[in-house]
Parts: sequence; structure tokens; C-alpha cells
Amino acid sequence: MAPGARFDPHSPESAMAIVNFGSFIIDHVYRVPHFVRPGETLPATGYRVFAGGKGFNQTLALARAGATASGHTLAHAGAIGENGRWLLELLRREGVDVRDVVVTDTPTGHGIIQVNDQGENAILQFPGANRTLERDHIERVLARYGPEDVLLLQNEVNALAQLIRTAVERGLRVVLNPAPMDTTIAGLPLERVWLLIVNEVEGFDLTGSRDPDEILARLGRRCPDSRVVLTLGAAGARCVHQGRQYQVDAWPAQAIDTTGAGDTFTGFFVASLLAGQAIGPALERAARAAALCVARHGAADSIPTATEVDALT
Ligand code: RIB
Repeated sequence: MAPGARFDPHSPESAMAIVNFGSFIIDHVYRVPHFVRPGETLPATGYRVFAGGKGFNQTLALARAGATASGHTLAHAGAIGENGRWLLELLRREGVDVRDVVVTDTPTGHGIIQVNDQGENAILQFPGANRTLERDHIERVLARYGPEDVLLLQNEVNALAQLIRTAVERGLRVVLNPAPMDTTIAGLPLERVWLLIVNEVEGFDLTGSRDPDEILARLGRRCPDSRVVLTLGAAGARCVHQGRQYQVDAWPAQAIDTTGAGDTFTGFFVASLLAGQAIGPALERAARAAALCVARHGAADSIPTATEVDALT
């Protein structure tokens, strides 16, 4: 696009537009022998800074999964502080349109992530600019999208209710990954979303059950027209849509850092569905992508490319 030209998600070359109204987080990652306990001072054995945030990671995963290869437009909207401009450059390099990201006086969100010897993480997060989204900004951005376009959301930005309501009114298909979970999620119009992706913790919070069959049954009843995906870590992933069940095993992997695996799964699953794959093969591709992610350090840095994922057979 020519410099200064107005972003048109519906240019003739664009089959469909995908916009992620999502977070940016600067991840400070500490390797630790175990998670720090109350009152304990624990020397970390390693420290690195990574680009992250569930929103940022999922946009990157969509791009690497080839979401733009079918001619779709991929855009990321949100808010950062001055200290987050480098994150925009990373998205631009992947072909993502970032002109709807505003730079605010509030610092970019950041996270303190402990990763233990089992590759598990514990995250303390400062949301920063991610929770400063304003009504006008949301309305202005979504006004450019319409029927069949896709809005992707996680729960690291404010105004989810307005985002879902406005998008549904305009006929967009809403994909919601309600992570991290909080008490506001159950009150959202989940039955209006096109695709809901939850893990076991989110599934429990939304249904009161820890049994995957029961979680899917209850969410399937609440959201009869939505595709509902339940990710189960080492036990794979399942999906229910209009009474039909789908299941995939986890791909074998040596986990060294699970941060970003759920985001990788989401990006690859959504990109595969939008490229026309059926639910079963899309789940399998997403599971392969997540397996490659957990075998690498970092969140965004560990998201594989479509070539790597599709070579894994
Ligand atoms: O899902 C992983 C992400 O969650 C990390 O990048 C971290 O920023 C947290 O938001």
C-alpha cells in the first residue's frame, strides 16, 4: 500500500479481512528451578525479554500459519506506549497491518514470567496500555469491517462486551479466546460468537465442571451455533459444532517452555478454518503447531511457520 493511503480491508485483492483487537505485552522471562514462594528470594538462572501478549502472539501465529496467503487482509488493532513501538515493527515484517494501533501515554503492558524446569510458567502481568481502549477507537475501526470478516479477541484488553456487540451488529464472525479468564467472561454474549476456544481452566470457570465431556456438552448447549474448542494440553484438543464432536491427540513434544502454545494453537486453527479446512484437519494442524512451540523458548519467538508445521507428518 502506498505510504499515507487509507487502509481498506476490502481492497479488490482482499478476500476477507481478519482483525485482532488484541494485547501487546513485553515478556520478561526468568528461568527458575521452581516458582518463587511467599517470602522467598530466588535467584533466576536465566533472563530474556520477548515480544508477547496473547493478542500479539495470536496475530503472529495467524500470519505464520498463512492467513494472508489466501489473499485475506490481516490487521491488528490495540494500544501500546512509546516503549512498545518495536512490537509494531515485528508485526509489520509479517505482513500485518498495524495502523489501528494507537500509541498512548500509558506504558505498554508487560509481564514477569517464571518458567520452571518442567517448562511450566507462572505470569504476573501489568496490563498497561492494553486496558485503555476507547469507545470511539473501537467504533472507528470496526466500521471498516462487515459481514464475513473476522474479529479475533482475547481477554487482555478492556471493552470486550462492546467489541463483541459492535462486531455482531455489523455481521462479523467473532472468535473469542477468553484468556486469561475472569468473572466478566460468563456475562458476555458467548452464544453470539462464531468460534469459542477455551482450555480446561476456562472451561471449568464457565461450566463448573472439570470433565471435558461435560464442559463441551454445557458450552455446546449454551452456544448451539458456535464452534466450541476445548484444548487439553498433553491430552490434545476437542471441538463440538452443531452436535458433532471432533478430537485430536497432542503431537509428541519435549516441552521446554509452554508459553504461547495456546496462542499458537488458536492462530493456526483459525487460519486453517478460514483457508477452508474442515474442523478435524484444522485441529490436527493446530496441534502440530503447538507441539513445535512448546519445544522452543519464549512466546512469539517460538511460533513456528506454516512450512515447519506442514512438514511435520
Ligand atoms: O499466552 C502467552 C502470553 O500470555 C505471554 O506472551 C504473556 O504475555 C501472557 O500474556
